[in-house]
Amino acid sequence: MDFNRKIAIITGAGHGIGAALAREFAARGARVAVADLNETAAKSVAQEIGGIAFRCDATLEGDIQALVALVEAELGPVDIFFSNAGICLGEPDHAASAPNSTWQACWDVHVMAHVYATRAVLPGMIGRGDGYLVQMASAAGVLNQIGDAAYSTTKHAAVGFSEALSITHGDQGIKVSVACPQYVATSMLGYDEPTQASSVPSVLNPTVLAQRVADAMEVETFMILPHPDVADYMIFKASHYKKWLGAMRKLRAKIIMKLGRTKLAEMHKLI
Ligand SMILES: NC(=O)c1ccc[n+]([C@@H]2O[C@H](COP(=O)([O-])OP(=O)(O)OC[C@H]3O[C@@H](n4cnc5c(N)ncnc54)[C@H](O)[C@@H]3O)[C@@H](O)[C@H]2O)c1
Repeated sequence: MDFNRKIAIITGAGHGIGAALAREFAARGARVAVADLNETAAKSVAQEIGGIAFRCDATLEGDIQALVALVEAELGPVDIFFSNAGICLGEPDHAASAPNSTWQACWDVHVMAHVYATRAVLPGMIGRGDGYLVQMASAAGVLNQIGDAAYSTTKHAAVGFSEALSITHGDQGIKVSVACPQYVATSMLGYDEPTQASSVPSVLNPTVLAQRVADAMEVETFMILPHPDVADYMIFKASHYKKWLGAMRKLRAKIIMKLGRTKLAEMHKLI
């Protein structure tokens, strides 16, 4: 898919990965609608790239419907819906210890937001015989995130939804991708937005991440793995599930021994 002159919506695009994607898509010629809970942040990114900004809570179906209607009225039919917004809240203790509110919030933003986005744009895309739906999952959606069962479980569900979309609509001109990055230097990992770099080699700069995602979308890759090692880990997991679980337990024990807890902003530096 060529980005030139395409109309793209990106949720959670006020900061971090979403903002980097907005810049990258615009640089490749797309008209970008920058949607975020934080309207000020969305406006700032939109101004920078010549796009348009919207305040939108991706977990509210009414907000998504209104977003799509406004974008279509201002720019025209949506070619690309990149459902990127996400949260990572951690867990206080054992794997089921996060409160119901955390599990529900993760389900809403990592699964239902993708469902709402699809409902809003898919019928038009099928009618035109063309469209691109992208879900931001995570390496946690194909492997796991130590210390965050709600995040890992709902990101797995996001991958399942992406597969269902491709199986059901891939022959109707609908392109589907699911992005599964490992660590990226954003505020989710405790990185300062303006710095956006890490001394940890496996942590990608969001700009580099966005370039890799856009390159993969140009050739319509279904499973986008911006960190190439993730493919090897997936093969190891599928071939030696028990050994993989043992290795993950060892890694968790190392993190607990060194840090005393599994806080994402600290522990990603040990992985
Ligand atoms: N940073 C990483 O290491 C990493 C790795 C893999 C996947 N991801 C995924 O990438 C996506 C973006 O993460 P990030 O690191 O840029 O996070 P971030 O916290 O830096 O930015 C997230 C943005 O989403 C917005 N947002 C949150 N909830 C929203 C909602 N309900 N509706 C609209 N906007 C909302 C926030 O206001 C913020 O601007 C998430 O889905 C995350 O799970 C991140």
